[in-house]
Amino acid sequence: MNSVKIVTIGGGSSYTPELIEGFIKRYNELPVRELWLVDIEEGKEKLEIVGSLARRMVEKAGIPMKIHLTLDRREALKGADFVTTQLRVGLLDARIKDEKIPLKYGVIGQETNGPGGLFKGLRTIPVILGICKDMEELCPDAWLVNFANPAGMVTEAVLRYSNIKKVVGLCNVPVGMKMNIAELLGVEGSRVHIDFAGLNHMVFGLNVYLDGGNVTSQVIGKLTDGSVSGVTMKNIKDMQWEPEFLQALGVLPCPYHRYYYQTRKMFEHELEASRNEGTRAEVVKKLEAELFELYKDPQLDIKPPQLEQRGGAYYSDAACNLINSLYNDKGDIQTVNVRNNGAIAGIPDDSAVELNCVITKDGPKPLAVGELPVPVRGLVQQIKSFERTAAEAAVTGDYKIALMAMVINPLVPSDGIAKQILDEMLEAHREHLPLFFRTEPAAALV
Ligand code: G6P
Repeated sequence: MNSVKIVTIGGGSSYTPELIEGFIKRYNELPVRELWLVDIEEGKEKLEIVGSLARRMVEKAGIPMKIHLTLDRREALKGADFVTTQLRVGLLDARIKDEKIPLKYGVIGQETNGPGGLFKGLRTIPVILGICKDMEELCPDAWLVNFANPAGMVTEAVLRYSNIKKVVGLCNVPVGMKMNIAELLGVEGSRVHIDFAGLNHMVFGLNVYLDGGNVTSQVIGKLTDGSVSGVTMKNIKDMQWEPEFLQALGVLPCPYHRYYYQTRKMFEHELEASRNEGTRAEVVKKLEAELFELYKDPQLDIKPPQLEQRGGAYYSDAACNLINSLYNDKGDIQTVNVRNNGAIAGIPDDSAVELNCVITKDGPKPLAVGELPVPVRGLVQQIKSFERTAAEAAVTGDYKIALMAMVINPLVPSDGIAKQILDEMLEAHREHLPLFFRTEPAAALV
């Protein structure tokens, strides 16, 4: 391979300039000659706007990267080296429903956690498995790098229900946490190393090192002495931790853990936001409209700084670093979602886990962690059971399995409420859940 072909499905996303910037920066090492941005009919206008901006960015950089825009996924996939997926089935309107409906029942409404995460998985997994089928036929040697949320559940489904084995799930949370901690310590990110292990949006920093020295308790001390704020992502309120709790936990939670450990406060905050500025998806919808207005400007040839208002900070670095290391066999350590294979004890071998891996041309090699500390082990296992069950519901369209997933999720209080939320959300998302509403007794997706 001396030139690389990348296909980005969901290419009309407002995040695409992040990716372009990342590929431009690394062009000397990672010669992406062809970048195919693929979208669906409803995304055509966005695809054209963001595609034109991508072309201006590439032209400014003076590199021979050809940007193709298409609605024909199969055409794009032929002979691809890497396929990235960043799609949102049902667009932001579906996310608004995921965030709003649970609130009516006193339950957290969130893009990737609780009932919202379940439904995002139910909508997304069949589409991703369709892409896998096309890849088997059209680019069987390509790597699938999935950023589509819920990234852990989607990776799990690909690992267990498709023939694509070269898959890596990717998220910006670990790199975001590392940069947050570096800032808190007042040092460059490159001096900080964190041993990450867990699941996507359920990952813990087990140890934090500065220049090789273990500074975990120093970091936890700073996080609990009231002197710092902003240790979160743009999409999650920076709710302060109870100092004694965090000290007792002894490991670094990720920003999403607030939904589990601060459920009541986060719920109240969500409810208030939904009555005022809107849920996160409603805020993002406005932000996106503004971003696309900026992207339309024919003078714009860089990634606009306004994109930093989104939760996906460092996403391009995470994605491009991963692709670069797979391509160049770098052997560096990155935190990604892969098949467990015994790396975390007590999680099935064939399940997806998020942890530090050595990235080689043969794929990420997990750095085994063994048992997770007792205080976090149970929650990780419970969420894994939820994700496994949710993935099974997504491929079968089985109501009872979906109900079971809802009930075992720790953010849902009881079977009765779970059923009410499930019924309302199934109806609300009907058009994007064909497997749940088919009339003939068809076989499952796989
Ligand atoms: C974080 C998560 C991503 C998620 C994003 C949402 O960065 O890690 O998985 O997509 O937030 O950000 P948004 O701006 O869409 O709320």
